[in-house]
Amino acid sequence: MSSAYLQCIEEACGRRQDPKRDLHACEFCGGLLDVKYDFDPIDPEQLRRTWHQRRLSGEPIDRSGLWRFRELIPFVDFKARIISLSEGSTPLVGVRRTGWWAGPVHLTIKHQGNNPTGSFKDLGMSACITRAESRGVRMVACASTGNTSASMAAYAARAGIKALLFVPYKQISAAKLAQALDFGALVVEVGDNFDDAFRLLREIAPELGLYLVNSINPFRIEGQKTIVAEMLEQRAWRPPDYIVVPGGNLGNSSAIGKGLRELKELGFIEKVPHIVIVQAAGANPFYQTLRAAAPDLLAVDNPQTEATAIRIGHPANWKKAKRVLDWAGGFCESVTDEEIFEAKRVLAEDGVGCEPASAATIAGVRKLVRAGKIERHADIVCVLTGNQLKDTDYIMRHRTEDQKNSQLLQVEPDLNSLRRELKRALREK
Ligand code: F0G
Repeated sequence: MSSAYLQCIEEACGRRQDPKRDLHACEFCGGLLDVKYDFDPIDPEQLRRTWHQRRLSGEPIDRSGLWRFRELIPFVDFKARIISLSEGSTPLVGVRRTGWWAGPVHLTIKHQGNNPTGSFKDLGMSACITRAESRGVRMVACASTGNTSASMAAYAARAGIKALLFVPYKQISAAKLAQALDFGALVVEVGDNFDDAFRLLREIAPELGLYLVNSINPFRIEGQKTIVAEMLEQRAWRPPDYIVVPGGNLGNSSAIGKGLRELKELGFIEKVPHIVIVQAAGANPFYQTLRAAAPDLLAVDNPQTEATAIRIGHPANWKKAKRVLDWAGGFCESVTDEEIFEAKRVLAEDGVGCEPASAATIAGVRKLVRAGKIERHADIVCVLTGNQLKDTDYIMRHRTEDQKNSQLLQVEPDLNSLRRELKRALREK
């Protein structure tokens, strides 16, 4: 069987870690860690057939869009307990109108909002909680802008592990908070933003013996990387020209890059798609760092954006994300909250809903095509990271609060009022 180990990503260090400990940072230099494998010889053709056949199987491990690709994540014994909620297997949908508006480009969305808790986090969480359970962990913890917490709470509940969450005070959507509470997690509201909550959690974690499942945990990245295998399979293994993701803590972009790199090294693909990361203008430390070609992260101390999922000023995985962009020839763009709303509105005209952070991808594509950095008619997959119902307050604010453009009428219950109000509203539309 293929074997796994942890290794520091810092070039100056690069040391392998003690395999008996589940570390989240290099024990020698504090750098981020990668899960690496000595893969058994793999025949891509054969494995593609196996993966395809598993779709017909009734076994939960085969039906999960994560564990179906288990040969890519051989860090658990597959006879052990797998903590799964049938995550993955999300749709890949063409969006013609949005593609025309953003480009014209050939645009497809990979909708990760169709996961069990409504976000892309479920793939990584299934992998990470499976790992935690196999190590006998009793309590898991994370800091979150909302989606990681909802996902962690669900998978921890399923595994019978206690869940402790740190979220910024009154800064995450009510729906995400409600999910975490519903799954029985203990929630601590602390700090003004994700970065504060995460820093405090990291400081207190050793004292309490907490097992962290934020994306600095390299097993999270392993789960999330399988999205590329599923996406490529859905495209008959023809890579697109670009894969576009929103950037917050930069775990997802790191995972997608790692997935592509391994699939290339194992002989599944030749061409490597460019990876594009899009950040919100008020929370764009990575964009600023790359633009200034700065050697260290230019952190943003008071990140601001209505796309609360990506309101992060000190992204923990920025070095991994940078490595991905260098390898895949990608870049980072920054878009305003107005541009995000506009993109979300156009996407809705294609019948596709998502949370604001996800729509940043579409806004980014439009901006990059206009700037000549993405060619017209390019073949692009935007990863929509979260479900439309994750942030209904945002929708209500944008769709009803402006009196003139409100789509929500409140009418007296008599025919005359109804006629009058409808005529007025329909005329204005
Ligand atoms: N989109 C959504 C909907 C998210 O929830 C997140 C991150 C991202 C994009 C950015 O992904 O951090 O891997 O770059 N949400 C985290 C959370 C931070 O706590 O739920 P990233």
